[in-house]
Amino acid sequence: MRYLLECEVVENDEVAPEQFRMRINAPELSRTAIAGQFCMLQVAEGLSPFLRRPMCFERIQRDHVSILYKAEGEGTRLLSKMRPGTTLNVQGPLGNGFPIDDSFERHIIVSGGIGVATFPALAEAIVRKCDVAPEVILAARSKHLILCADEFRELGCKVYIATDDGSAGEKLFASQMLEKLRPNPSCRVYVCGPMIMMKTTSDVAMAAGADCVVSLEAQMACGDGACLGCVVESKSEKEGEKMVRVCLDGPVFDTTMIDWAAHNMAYDR
Ligand SMILES: Cc1cc2nc3c(=O)[nH]c(=O)nc-3n(C[C@H](O)[C@H](O)[C@H](O)COP(=O)(O)OP(=O)(O)OC[C@H]3O[C@@H](n4cnc5c(N)ncnc54)[C@H](O)[C@@H]3O)c2cc1C
Ligand code: FES
Repeated sequence: MRYLLECEVVENDEVAPEQFRMRINAPELSRTAIAGQFCMLQVAEGLSPFLRRPMCFERIQRDHVSILYKAEGEGTRLLSKMRPGTTLNVQGPLGNGFPIDDSFERHIIVSGGIGVATFPALAEAIVRKCDVAPEVILAARSKHLILCADEFRELGCKVYIATDDGSAGEKLFASQMLEKLRPNPSCRVYVCGPMIMMKTTSDVAMAAGADCVVSLEAQMACGDGACLGCVVESKSEKEGEKMVRVCLDGPVFDTTMIDWAAHNMAYDR
């Protein structure tokens, strides 16, 4: 079930430099959305900016959902200025969520930067369904960009921090930290972050024989499968095409489906 909803912004706070958490009152969404899905937000009335902006659900709670976002362009800056009480038009839930399978002994979440935004809801869902807390790698360029560590710990997760500059945790990349955790075929690894980080982390997971899913990002227009604005190269053919739509076929994919070599790693954050 998909909705086009007028939702009230309940909170919209800067939680780190240029990073915001918005909580919105959306009972219909919170009843139907699952971890890994996303919504399209209308960031302004009128024609500019014309396109909605895609955001995944950070938490899905009774009557509310939250999103965690980085203000980096016109749309997200407008979003960051919305005060509590503002009405926000939200389309969703969209896309496919994360698969959750309790036959895996270990679940390892690997996030890069703001890619963490999709994972608190996933960690909560894994704890609920599998009765085991995932291990969580939070990787970022620097200490001030590490988000949600306390939220994961409250869910019982063991958190490993990796920073490029060594200002918090270990001076490692996400993929190197995953190697240290020694994934094996009884693990499922969940990855979201910059493209290059997702590729290198997937390589480590696959070399260890672990199952690996990635949550991809792409520029989106319709969010609903119609415009083909969000296609990425795939390794498998679907309806004669070697392309998949991030909005409709994803955003969560088995990493073996993605043709990483064909991907434009320059589109990175
Ligand atoms: C399914 C999905 C879920 C997402 N969830 C989140 C989330 O939870 N939190 C969050 O902070 N961001 C998320 N994003 C990315 C977010 O949608 C973009 O950052 C946002 O649309 C940029 O809009 P803007 O107007 O601020 O920037 P623009 O002015 O449009 O662009 C500013 C910069 O951001 C880059 N950019 C634009 N759109 C995207 C995009 N879709 N992905 C990556 N980079 C982009 C541009 O290349 C440019 O460098 C998600 C994207 C997708 C596809
Ligand atoms: S955004 Fe239009 S097809 Fe995906």
